[in-house]
Amino acid sequence: MSFSEDLHAALAQRPRRISPKYFYDDIGSRLFEQICELPEYYPTCTELALLHTHGAEMAACIGPRAQLVEYGAGALRKVRGLLDHMQAPHAFVPVDISGEHLLAACADLQLAYPALAITPVVADFTQPHDLPRRPVGVRRVGFFPGSSIGNFSPAEALSFLNMAAQELRGGGLLIGIDLIKDPAVLHAAYSDAAGVTAAFNLNLLERARRELGAEFDATGFAHSAFYNAPQQRIEMHLMSLRQQVLSLGDQRYEFAAGETLHTENSHKYSVNGFQEQAALAGFSAGPVWTDARGWFALLWLTAPA
Ligand SMILES: C[S@@+](CC[C@H](N)C(=O)[O-])C[C@H]1O[C@@H](n2cnc3c(N)ncnc32)[C@H](O)[C@@H]1O
Repeated sequence: MSFSEDLHAALAQRPRRISPKYFYDDIGSRLFEQICELPEYYPTCTELALLHTHGAEMAACIGPRAQLVEYGAGALRKVRGLLDHMQAPHAFVPVDISGEHLLAACADLQLAYPALAITPVVADFTQPHDLPRRPVGVRRVGFFPGSSIGNFSPAEALSFLNMAAQELRGGGLLIGIDLIKDPAVLHAAYSDAAGVTAAFNLNLLERARRELGAEFDATGFAHSAFYNAPQQRIEMHLMSLRQQVLSLGDQRYEFAAGETLHTENSHKYSVNGFQEQAALAGFSAGPVWTDARGWFALLWLTAPA
């Protein structure tokens, strides 16, 4: 489905909900990079520190001559913590839906690692996609940082893990997960003082204006993020501040005051709970690396043979 089809479907249903993958046009990808620099947004600095401290142990799990596939690769900052320690990597295959941004990040990475074979794949990893061939004797290993898995519903996460278990057969997956913690920490991280997360969220509507000619009053929508404790997830919404109409193509979508378009979930996990979910897809649990505060974890999962 295209952005237009998915947005029409999202606006026509109740409650209104759209995939967070539509945040990531070039502007959205840049805004996400700014989020990663925010003092409140602990996941990036915590995961980078884990990669910095334990990169050699993680690279040992990955093994020599690996084809490393990074899902939702973004700015390609984190993979450096692995590449610095990997033994004779066969190739690096970053996969991302945000093509322009991915290709620019690959050019920067190539300058830093001139000998590395980099084969970017611009694709939606929730849809069937092709990866470069894996020669005999080369292990394929996945890297899925940023707790992007948390953006999926539990059913979607399982279907991603099932896909990855097939794609990575005989190798493994190094995955970052955000751990359950004090909701005050989460609220600060997803509603930062500088308003960058708000701009990132609102960019979804701005993207609809730029690409699809959507018409709406931008001052009529506000960023809303809160922790849904029973579901163990942060929810992000675009909330209508008054009764208004958003026009898309020849459709007019009415919003009541307080009505929302649900734009993202970010699930929080326990290590055991996540390992149990991964086991349903055939992965077996390996080493786990967590920070001293127990806020974030990187997990090694061995893929089925
Ligand atoms: C939360 S950011 C994480 C970026 C980076 N991996 C990190 O840890 O900082 C999510 C990334 O996944 C990409 N992405 C989101 N949904 C995707 C999808 N369905 N298929 C491919 N890439 C996707 C976005 O473009 C973005 O670069």
